[in-house]
Amino acid sequence: MNSVVNVNLPGREYEILIGPGILAEAGPRIAQMGGRRHVAIITDETVAGLHMAALQDSLRASELSSEFLALPAGEATKSWPELQRSVEWLLDQKVERGDVVVAFGGGVIGDLAGFAAAILRRGVRFVQIPTTLLAQVDSSVGGKTGINAPHGKNLIGAFHQPSLVLADTSLLDTLAPRDYLAGYGEVVKYGLLGDAGFFDWLEQKAPGMANNMDACVHAVRRSCQMKAEIVNRDEKEQGDRALLNLGHTFCHAFEAATGYSDRLLHGEGVAIGCAMAFELSARLGLCSQEDPSRVRAHLRDMGMKVDLADIEGELPDAAALLTLMGQDKKVVDGKLRFVLARGIGEAFITSDVPRDAVLGLLDDALLQRR
Ligand code: GLY
Repeated sequence: MNSVVNVNLPGREYEILIGPGILAEAGPRIAQMGGRRHVAIITDETVAGLHMAALQDSLRASELSSEFLALPAGEATKSWPELQRSVEWLLDQKVERGDVVVAFGGGVIGDLAGFAAAILRRGVRFVQIPTTLLAQVDSSVGGKTGINAPHGKNLIGAFHQPSLVLADTSLLDTLAPRDYLAGYGEVVKYGLLGDAGFFDWLEQKAPGMANNMDACVHAVRRSCQMKAEIVNRDEKEQGDRALLNLGHTFCHAFEAATGYSDRLLHGEGVAIGCAMAFELSARLGLCSQEDPSRVRAHLRDMGMKVDLADIEGELPDAAALLTLMGQDKKVVDGKLRFVLARGIGEAFITSDVPRDAVLGLLDDALLQRR
């Protein structure tokens, strides 16, 4: 059942191992990588409580000692103070250029620990052991690392590829259903942006996926394959990699409008954003009206948030949401870049979207809330 996906960046090739129980590979795999027989692990308090013993057992069985730093769980940890704390802790651990740092957690820990590894001694190797669906299919792969600024999310960071990714799908059993579904927002994104056959498959299999390990492994593998293919073509997001931002320009505005709070999780915003990107594509005559309807129907089948009406509490008006979209770091020369679609699995990047079309779409979506 276990699978391997390769990222083939010249000189920085690495494997993504996927499957139930892959965590047990951590010891043998990290031991093969050389460096001191001591591993520094950055994690969060929740993951440490649930899974640290299993990771440390695997390391110990390969004669590797380890220590861990457990940071508070949650987005607020992607900050300067926690970065400073992490880097100084790694220095206390005497991590050297040849050593390996482990990022053990969801997207917050992967991004923060990866960035700490990128800047420590001008760059040390790190291993991603993602523990959430979102991190397994998206954030642990491709080398985007960083923290948030008061000005917006992920505005401070570096590209730093991991040396290995271990995606243990059995760890997903401990996720709260809402977190699992939020991660699914990134899975469905892959079908929508570039593989209509995968979207068909998800329509059939994804509703029972949380209790079907084979289906879960397939979904994580296909998502990682698609991400690896795109990162191989365009590591630094000069072109195609921006396709991975399908739904994200909308999502980032909604996250900012809800104060990055648990009113809206990132993956929930991605799902709503994907539905809106398809709706905008249909309004611009790029795809048929059936496509956004199909996207929405599938998200509803999954029990996910689909529309702005599904976000509780106040939201700003359409003009203010559009301004928040302008804060997105995908703005080029002041023009918003959108990922739109000519059909399911046929996304493309464009800066040529009339402002009024976006305003009209947001206005209509906000009206449904009344
Ligand atoms: N999460 C989008 C990317 O890695 O490019």
